[in-house]
Amino acid sequence: MDSTRSFYDRISRVYDLLADRSEQEAREAGLAALDVSAGEAVLEIGFGTGHALVALAEAVGKEGRVAGIDLSPGMRAVTEKRLGDAGLAEQVELVTGDARTLPWKDDSFDAVFLCFTLELFEPADIPRVLAEVQRVLRPGTGAAKGRLGLVSLTAGEHPGPVVEIYRWLHRHFPHFVDCQPIDASGWLEGSGFEIETEQELSIWGLPVAVITARPWAS
Ligand SMILES: C[S@@+](CC[C@H](N)C(=O)[O-])C[C@H]1O[C@@H](n2cnc3c(N)ncnc32)[C@H](O)[C@@H]1O
Repeated sequence: MDSTRSFYDRISRVYDLLADRSEQEAREAGLAALDVSAGEAVLEIGFGTGHALVALAEAVGKEGRVAGIDLSPGMRAVTEKRLGDAGLAEQVELVTGDARTLPWKDDSFDAVFLCFTLELFEPADIPRVLAEVQRVLRPGTGAAKGRLGLVSLTAGEHPGPVVEIYRWLHRHFPHFVDCQPIDASGWLEGSGFEIETEQELSIWGLPVAVITARPWAS
């Protein structure tokens, strides 16, 4: 985790220049699919430079609640500035910490958003992160049950050549290409989530899954 933290600290001021143009469309599709409403309580894991937190805070309004957790103090500093400029600093709780252990009580949120972050974790840690997501999501039945919005580089059983090249880059230059495509829907289903909506976009030929899902068990 230390190397991930220092990597994101180092690139925090240029992250938007490097990545935002390619990631914006998928992030907005994920936010549209999650479709949070006024008054809801929402958590974003791995908030990066804070674009989604601004959109989420505007969507839930003053009667709602937004929280975010990110490992990198550098990313947090960029996000604090963005929230301040948008006049939303008071409405969003920011935590610097590790998503493998979320510092919120059970059943705290109506929705959780994870965008280009789940694929950064080692495979052994993905179920742990998803178990934490389940723990903090509100129980219930049907539409009352808390939900997850996930945007992730993805690869199914037969990854294409662009995915293979990306994986090769990840293996050989993990400090520059820190994430790798995952079987996003497979991880969710294997961790007790029921997929409600799923669409696939593409960034430079890499498939990106935009998924909403709810825990099976309540
Ligand atoms: C690729 S960026 C994506 C940022 C943002 N969600 C977006 O879509 O622009 C991944 C973010 O996850 C954060 N991160 C990485 N590992 C983490 C962990 N274990 N716990 C919390 N955040 C983490 C990084 O600091 C970084 O800000």
